[in-house]
Amino acid sequence: MEVIVLKNVENVAATAGVLLGELLRVKPAAVLGLATGGTQLALYHRLVEKYLDGSLSFKQTTSFNLDEYLGVSADNNQSFRAYMNREFFDHIDIDKHNTFLPACNEEDNPRLVGPLYEKKIHDAGGIDLQVMGIGANGHIGFNEPSSSLGSRTRIKTLTKQTIEDNSRLFSKDEFQPKLAITMGIATIMDVRRILLLATGENKADAVGKMVEGPVTAMCPASVLQLHENVSVLLDEKAATGLKNRQYYDWTYRQNESLKERFGILHE
Ligand code: PGA
Repeated sequence: MEVIVLKNVENVAATAGVLLGELLRVKPAAVLGLATGGTQLALYHRLVEKYLDGSLSFKQTTSFNLDEYLGVSADNNQSFRAYMNREFFDHIDIDKHNTFLPACNEEDNPRLVGPLYEKKIHDAGGIDLQVMGIGANGHIGFNEPSSSLGSRTRIKTLTKQTIEDNSRLFSKDEFQPKLAITMGIATIMDVRRILLLATGENKADAVGKMVEGPVTAMCPASVLQLHENVSVLLDEKAATGLKNRQYYDWTYRQNESLKERFGILHE
């Protein structure tokens, strides 16, 4: 795992934007994995700026989101589809027909969504780069603690903590879903490159367990230790639980100078 500690939220978004841009410039038809949540907002706003100043285009890009609530329709403001349109897709040149979420229409069987989503990702050639956050409980996507490390896209019941963490986004009389459809942990492990972003003190504990703890289903993000191409982008606050910090800073400097001398390594 490459651990990159940056000063603040803006620097995390800017660095993630650069890494994503590096991919899109060599592979404009890249398949991106995307995520919702508060952490990603600064990144999406940054990417919109890059699109507006002409330095990035998403015209040929396909995207797959990590997850979607079950029982919330696409036109509901609380759906992840609505979030993606509002914060990102409506402001760039991506073809929305090429943007996918594991959503279930009201009349459909939610158990069939997962296998179809897996096939769609496979048919698109797999995900080149997945952007994601981490839950305060160590979840990735909605793979809550105790999720099978071999799981595929499926229905998950949210934990109390996740429901509480997200309750700030729902008004009192609004329906807050308890179920979601999420890419599985094995689905995530299949992607070629992962950018995991975490900011704020409330992520410090989960980040420490993910990077330096044992690989365990009780901290689903810890399985990323087994992925060969993960960059963890943190602000100072999210990095406070790391014991090995000096080494990460030193390694990042080495990697940057290697990049300067020899360029970027792409498959
Ligand atoms: P957040 O969510 O960005 O809103 O903190 C991250 C996550 O739960 O994965």
